[in-house]
Amino acid sequence: MIGGKRILLIVSGGIAAYKSLELIRRLRERDAQVRCVLTAAGAQFVTPLSLAALSEDKVYQELFSLTDEAEMGHIELSRDADLLVVAPASADILAKMPHGQANDLASTALLATDKDVLVAPAMNVRMWHHPATQANLETLRQRGVHVVGPNEGAMACGEFGLGRMAEPAEILAAIENCLSPRGSLTGYRALVTSGPTYEPIDPVRYIANRSSGIQGHAIATALAAQGAETILVSGPTQLPDPPGVQVHHVQTAAEMNHACEASLPVDVAVCAAAVADWRVAATAEQKIKKGGKGPQSLTLTTNPDILHNLSHHPDRRPSLVVGFAAETERVVEQAVEKRARKGCDWILANDVSSGTGTFGGQENAVHFIRAADQESWPRMSKAQVAERLTQKIVAHFAPDTDSTPVTESAT
Ligand code: C5P
Repeated sequence: MIGGKRILLIVSGGIAAYKSLELIRRLRERDAQVRCVLTAAGAQFVTPLSLAALSEDKVYQELFSLTDEAEMGHIELSRDADLLVVAPASADILAKMPHGQANDLASTALLATDKDVLVAPAMNVRMWHHPATQANLETLRQRGVHVVGPNEGAMACGEFGLGRMAEPAEILAAIENCLSPRGSLTGYRALVTSGPTYEPIDPVRYIANRSSGIQGHAIATALAAQGAETILVSGPTQLPDPPGVQVHHVQTAAEMNHACEASLPVDVAVCAAAVADWRVAATAEQKIKKGGKGPQSLTLTTNPDILHNLSHHPDRRPSLVVGFAAETERVVEQAVEKRARKGCDWILANDVSSGTGTFGGQENAVHFIRAADQESWPRMSKAQVAERLTQKIVAHFAPDTDSTPVTESAT
């Protein structure tokens, strides 16, 4: 748990630094001690005063400052912390870290530590995808550095893609995971499906849908943060693998079904993937030519229904099976029917009609439905939905556990 832990929060340069203010607030609410190091670039985006006011501590900026070094030298700064968090982690600091550069207070504290380090990258999409950044991240991962995010979305620079810093709630969950890997779901095994499936027509064409995988990945992240041994079976997405989660990448519904089956037994299964209902009956081995004999129609055949299969598994049914119902009309009514039809225990229904921005967006408004009761949750980030669902799962398995919700109560 976070309470009483000491976090050294390094704020490097990026517009996402404003979200770090919210992160500090949430950490303080949970009684964590937060001490901030602000880089010169970071100070272009947030002021030391804001960080000091929220962290209720002095903010450290200079490597060669007589007063800072006298009060708390760079070695003590990291020695004194339980965890170092870099949020936002700019491409620059992520390049310094693998090379052991130590030319300012932040990079020196990071080199001088033997504590766990969590980074929340934030940068332009092309900077993120650059092989240099990816190689740096890979080195850091291999050295045991924890990574949360980045997420996909619109960027301050006007572009769209991967590079947005993870939301404060996601960083909080990752911090919790780093600090207390033995969470309330320790000893439980969880299976999550996420993303779309690609159903091939021929070697170059496929049938797919607009699922981003954001919700499913967030659920896997939140379950792992509570200590569950988490298996994520994911269709093709743009998202990074969540930290501490065993990920199986698949393309088709049949592969997803097979990977889920191979993951059993699990205690809880959450089916958040947008699985294609049909596939092409006979995938062409060669590219279908458009001229002459090209097909005027495709013959489709039904895909396995993974949620249904798990819910009716003859000998290894997970004790809790959770499904999603994406509807465009009569959302709750249809979801209630779907819960019965699929045989799952709980269903989260969401309105995906055009204009809601749910598909591909960062937010979701869901109705939580089980046999005995139902709740309508207000619109919140998908990370918060994931945390709230995880708290329900924790309560289901360990009703007496006094697990502190990591989301603010939103009802
Ligand atoms: O039937 P529908 O696709 O609306 O049901 C949605 C729920 O069923 C989601 O939880 C989805 O992950 C799951 N599903 C599945 N396998 C399928 C189709 C849907 O697991 N082939």
